[in-house]
Amino acid sequence: MKKIHIKTWGCQMNEYDSSIISNLFLLNKKKYCLTDTPFKADVLILNTCSIREKAKEKLFHQLGRWKKIKEKNPKIIIAVGGCVATQEGKEIYNRANYVDIIFGTQTIHRLPNMINEIQKNKTFLIDISFPTEEKFDSLLEPRVSKLSSYVSIMEGCNKYCSFCIVPYTRGVEVSRKCDDVLFEIVSLAKKGIKEIHLLGQNVNAYKGETAYGGICSFSELIELIAEIKEIKRIRFTTSHPVEFTRKIINVYEKVPKLVNFLHLPVQSGSNRILKLMKRGHTISDYKKIISELLLIRPKMQISSDFIVGFPGETKKDFYKTIKLIEEINFDMSFSFIYSPRPGTPASIMKDNETSYSEKKIRLDLLQKRIRKQALNWTKKMMNSIQIILVEGVSKKNISELYGKTENNRTAYFQGLSTMIGKFVKIKITNTFINSVRGIFINYVN
Ligand code: SAH
Ligand code: F3S
Repeated sequence: MKKIHIKTWGCQMNEYDSSIISNLFLLNKKKYCLTDTPFKADVLILNTCSIREKAKEKLFHQLGRWKKIKEKNPKIIIAVGGCVATQEGKEIYNRANYVDIIFGTQTIHRLPNMINEIQKNKTFLIDISFPTEEKFDSLLEPRVSKLSSYVSIMEGCNKYCSFCIVPYTRGVEVSRKCDDVLFEIVSLAKKGIKEIHLLGQNVNAYKGETAYGGICSFSELIELIAEIKEIKRIRFTTSHPVEFTRKIINVYEKVPKLVNFLHLPVQSGSNRILKLMKRGHTISDYKKIISELLLIRPKMQISSDFIVGFPGETKKDFYKTIKLIEEINFDMSFSFIYSPRPGTPASIMKDNETSYSEKKIRLDLLQKRIRKQALNWTKKMMNSIQIILVEGVSKKNISELYGKTENNRTAYFQGLSTMIGKFVKIKITNTFINSVRGIFINYVN
């Protein structure tokens, strides 16, 4: 029995990939099991991320720790995958020759075979190629919970925003075949899944081949998924403003199963910075999408990603971002200080004199502002009726059940265990920072 330890850094896509990796091993339960403790493991797997920070240094620090474990037990296999592995390739082995396997973002499905081969031949292996379609074919339904599941529908990105490493580490956009996606969702529905979270770096750029040789767009895919009776709620991340078409906006009218919550990254509130970022859209393009959506769904809440301190960002640019945050009234964000990624066009752009501490002050201000808005959104839920998918019994109070609202708040209420797995309506009676409490009203069919 081989014990596998997986350490994951980074985005939802990486979390998703790691759950696929664990599923690949758990398929063979007689041979493999998972362990949380690295020094008890036979195989150490690191799934890296290079989106921000000092990714390379972080990797070698981690490998340094694992080297000590390997010195005590030389039979341990160390495998490094993900975005840093795709980018650095054999360089990793050149600096840390105790690493046995380097695999890429698109070759995770080959990992069990690579491990078998290492056991036989004991020579270093590397595979950082991009067989994305082959990866799709070997996907194994990772779950979020017993009721909700991620479904990867596309990978990669063709947008080449000037700051971003993703197009280089995940490759160009490749969509899964429409029937494959639907087949997977139907089979998840049969297993009791009620909520689907579609996943892709640029999820709304989806263009999946159909069985008849046509192309299914993102909005068409959503309409098809909505026809699957057992699936009651549909979410997706991450979408891009450039491909947020009229057809996608209209789908919000046709498909009530789409939640009243949208994560649509804008990055900055300044047109000058958006242009330097090569985002391909302006602030008014972004606002137009939101206002059209709000006409259809007045209760829609929006979240975004922001980058603070992009090369050349002035105080004036930054305050334009704050103004946009207030205008849109964003609820939550992923926001970070700009970090130069080697090989990207922005990494060689001239920066102004803005110090790192000033950038940090800007980020704190932005995050405080959004936290305040998020709190106001939660407070506004008082006395409202919310639909929640009941996930289980509260750990803090066993007489209460809990579930998620459409806008991702955890909701608690008194209920019967037979309600678990169902959608119910509750009336909100208390609001807290990240959660709400309510009383049961009725079931939702
Ligand atoms: N559409 C993608 C975006 C991937 S990158 C998705 O979310 O799946 C996620 C976020 O990381 C970006 O929206 C951006 O805000 C941030 N990011 C990317 N490159 C960055 C960099 N060089 N410095 C700081 N933040 C960055
Ligand atoms: Fe990155 Fe821009 Fe694509 S942020 S993932 S290059 S849309």
